Amino acid sequence: MSSILEKKIFRSITHANQFFEKKTEKQLLESVGRIITSIPLPPHTTKKWFQKSYVVASDKDDFLAGKGIFYITEGRKLFLDTTAGHYQMTWGYNHPVLMKNLNQALKLGIPWDCHSNIPGFFVKKLSEKLVQICNPGTKLETLQDSNSSLNTVLLGIATGSVACSTAMKIALNYFRNNKPNRKKIVFVSINGNYHGTDFIMQRLRKMWDWIFSDNLIFEMVEPNDIEGLHKIFKTHKENICAFFFEPVMMNREAILLKKNFVQEARRLTESVDALMIVDEIQTCCWYPEIFMYKQFDITPDILILGKGLTAGFHPLSAIVYKRKLDSLKQYDAISTNGNAPLPAFMALCCLELIEKNLNKIEELGNYYEKKLHCLAQEFPELIVSIQGKGMLSGIKLKNQEIALAFHKKCLEKGIWARVHAYYEGHSTLLTKFALVATKNSIDFVIDTFRKILRTF
Ligand SMILES: Cc1ncc(COP(=O)(O)O)c(C=O)c1O
Repeated sequence: MSSILEKKIFRSITHANQFFEKKTEKQLLESVGRIITSIPLPPHTTKKWFQKSYVVASDKDDFLAGKGIFYITEGRKLFLDTTAGHYQMTWGYNHPVLMKNLNQALKLGIPWDCHSNIPGFFVKKLSEKLVQICNPGTKLETLQDSNSSLNTVLLGIATGSVACSTAMKIALNYFRNNKPNRKKIVFVSINGNYHGTDFIMQRLRKMWDWIFSDNLIFEMVEPNDIEGLHKIFKTHKENICAFFFEPVMMNREAILLKKNFVQEARRLTESVDALMIVDEIQTCCWYPEIFMYKQFDITPDILILGKGLTAGFHPLSAIVYKRKLDSLKQYDAISTNGNAPLPAFMALCCLELIEKNLNKIEELGNYYEKKLHCLAQEFPELIVSIQGKGMLSGIKLKNQEIALAFHKKCLEKGIWARVHAYYEGHSTLLTKFALVATKNSIDFVIDTFRKILRTF
């Protein structure tokens, strides 16, 4: 790292970090949306080599440095990030405990990756920890032979997309072994789903239909439509292989699935021996129960984890499933950088932080939800509903135009949020605060939302 360009960028990042260190939360909140001129301008570099669809924002809006829920752009504007990075930084940017642990682990030389034949202590420990979280109060020794518990972990996968397609492969193997004479295979998912970028998973959301045969059928049900679910199960019965769902649909306006819908789906999948696969890549690690499926009082057959599991330090995904489904061979579903001791260590640290902060997580989620509902009451002519649960929330606005304008004004004021308003009927601002948010920062964001809503 010796070129002038790199030295300059280090200088800007160092100044940005010093800015974060010197300021109290109150001072940071007061500066949100401002240009921090004490930070030297970073050297300009370009995005012109990126694929076109990635060049959305201007270079000056790109990330320079972050701390907690705040970050500074290359244009030196201070933002309050209400989305935890790309929904993956459970504890925000550079959490002090996680950074300390990471630096210690790096000093010890714990490797980022190693071969899946020699996974090492932390990968093994994480697999045990995940089984333990799925089965609280049960002695680990008694779990290994259980057929009904989530007791098997596949950890050798880096991204959520590979984890989702791995779950799909397991479901296909199970289907072939248990229903060998069936000519049709049916997958059921929820309209508006997002199970990653593997192309069979994208087929669940209507892409690539032209490359699949008529034997492979993809059915979609509307969220919480029990009648629709009954119809699909009545039509396809034992041809159904698996039902995929996300507890909070962060790709469809943060719609929360209802307990009675999920429980009915569990009953129906069992009645036709189909697998229930819960994709918790978004929801894992954001609730006091750690895995949100527990709120539905069901046990899925396969649980998919990712994103927040390592608090954004390095991608590491996992699936946890019932032993009877353990059908994949070693190289049927791996990432060569998925059997990763250091990310596994970070995941253990992240889970430890959650366990230490259960009450705070619960309290903060409830607080944010309550504040959002109060805001909706204040602006009934603009806000249609509050969606989601806890920190994974959506503000559904009256129409697409208002949602887009609201989002634009948030960005202008230094509030980084996401918006779903690009499909017909979608008009929702999305937030997923990192768990280091405070009541003060939530109040600040709600107050900014209020000020913006008053301008309509
Ligand atoms: C619910 C869900 N499933 C799967 C994925 C894919 O994960 P990844 O981006 O790590 O491949 C995502 C990513 O946003 C997701 O939100």
